[in-house]
Amino acid sequence: MLAELSPALIAEVKLAAKLLASKRRICILTGAGISAESGIPTFRDKQTGLWENYGVEDLATPEAFVRDPKLVWSWYQWRRQVVVDKAPNLAHHALAEWQYHAQTSDQQVTLITQNVDDLHEQAGSSVTHLHGHLWRNRCGQCEAPYQDQSRASYDNQNAMSFDEALLTCPHCDGYIRPDIVWFGEALPVNEWQTAEAAATNCEVFISIGTSSLVYPAAGLAQLAKQNGAQVIEINPDPTPNTIVDITLAEKAGMILPLLIQEMTA
Ligand code: OAD
Repeated sequence: MLAELSPALIAEVKLAAKLLASKRRICILTGAGISAESGIPTFRDKQTGLWENYGVEDLATPEAFVRDPKLVWSWYQWRRQVVVDKAPNLAHHALAEWQYHAQTSDQQVTLITQNVDDLHEQAGSSVTHLHGHLWRNRCGQCEAPYQDQSRASYDNQNAMSFDEALLTCPHCDGYIRPDIVWFGEALPVNEWQTAEAAATNCEVFISIGTSSLVYPAAGLAQLAKQNGAQVIEINPDPTPNTIVDITLAEKAGMILPLLIQEMTA
């Protein structure tokens, strides 16, 4: 597989593998790009079809949910439909394999994600979600968790479909919303503390498939760097992240299996 990469990129992969093999505390941050090869569009991909005329302010803010709960709920039900049949790709599996082997080595591999899908878990990883969970719901008013999972049902084509009718909370009658962090909302406290501690204490920080545009998650790489870590980025496209020591400019599904193979060779 190494032969599919340019000699310059192969040299960078080997350099990154050597660095990782020599360090104990690793913090990894993933973004939508790691799920792209599973068929889940990233946020920077152009929205198509039904939702192309809506912006983030119409669909992913608390104000949007107050203004038009049906619109916001329908958008998340549509996203659930997009994600439900997707499976982890080589990148998710490679990270899970690394974490599995780390259990019996002296490496500590902390995985943090901005993604709301559960593909890391499906691959077998232990992961901290900074931006919530697509498959969980809670009341938008009293915050109580809502168990009835998104009313998934099979339509007569046997495809999964998700009811767009609004649900209400059995405790306070408020509308049920996805348990996702929207723009303008605070990140979950425990998860953020885990991420901050891992970034502060790591020796290598790896940023994978994120545009590094959305804070506070985007600040974790800087935090790691300030505390002496080296930073590796895996992304086929350039990002505004200027503190990167090693750039692996290829798809995560291509780089991660190789990187981990090289590291453990
Ligand atoms: P973005 O959609 O902003 O960025 C995805 C990144 O993945 C881009 O930089 C792509 O170049 C890169 N990419 C695409 N395909 C890739 C591949 N196969 N391998 C590696 N990288 C690839 O997604 P995020 O950075 O995750 O927040 O976005 C951050 C947050 O903004 C999201 O969590 C979401 C969004 O609004 C909330 O929902 C709160």
